[in-house]
Amino acid sequence: MSTETWSAVDHFLGDFFVPADEALDEALRASDAAGLPAIAVSAVQGKLLHLLARIHGARRILEIGTLGGYSTIWLARALPTEGHVVSLEFDPRHAEVARANMAHAGLASKVDVRVGKALDTLPSIAEETSEPFDFFFIDADKENNPAYFDWALRLSRPGSVIVIDNVVRGGRVIDGTLDDKAIQGTRRVLERMGREPRVSATAIQTVGTKGYDGFAIAVVNR
Ligand code: SAH
Ligand code: DHB
Ligand code: MG
Repeated sequence: MSTETWSAVDHFLGDFFVPADEALDEALRASDAAGLPAIAVSAVQGKLLHLLARIHGARRILEIGTLGGYSTIWLARALPTEGHVVSLEFDPRHAEVARANMAHAGLASKVDVRVGKALDTLPSIAEETSEPFDFFFIDADKENNPAYFDWALRLSRPGSVIVIDNVVRGGRVIDGTLDDKAIQGTRRVLERMGREPRVSATAIQTVGTKGYDGFAIAVVNR
């Protein structure tokens, strides 16, 4: 089985479940034109995030790692009228592209893109609001995944859902000897999630246009 097959099947599935969509297509085109890396979630993965947030009835979503806002659009579209996404992005260029993409998608009023290192902006988010978030998508610098997971727990309520992207990385995650801060951060967060009594969690491997990777998912126990 090859990456070409995985991609072909992703397109096959996408044809059924992810019809051409002007705002999403434009978000990718504009991100590419601005020189952003092509590392957004795939179309079918974006739809999965959207479905998870909808199944959950999420009203307040916190995303860590905006890039050009492709996943942000999927998440924001899962919200009820009064819902809100806060998305944290380190790179001001990425945030600027993302804000334009939100405006183009008609989602500017629902999405707040905050610029800065997430570990610097998370404390202010905690201070600003006592209202917890219902759903978290963690997809930024992987070395800080353990800290992001702790922040998500802190900003959560019983029943909140926490999704983490890129937890398999072509299988490299199983190699504890790798001198790679991203892999080490991911290994630590998986271990943390597995032994954290406040959540119930699992992880699943994925293949597709993004190669071989995976998601971890946790629910905060009631
Ligand atoms: N969620 C996006 C992809 C995010 S890519 C999507 O699927 O469409 C990861 C993003 O995290 C990049 O834009 C990168 O600039 C940002 N990032 C890296 N380190 C960060 C940090 N410390 N704080 C916030 N964002 C960070
Ligand atoms: C990378 C980051 C991601 O969030 C992703 O989904 C794929 C790749 C990266 O930094 O290479
Ligand atoms: Mg990712």
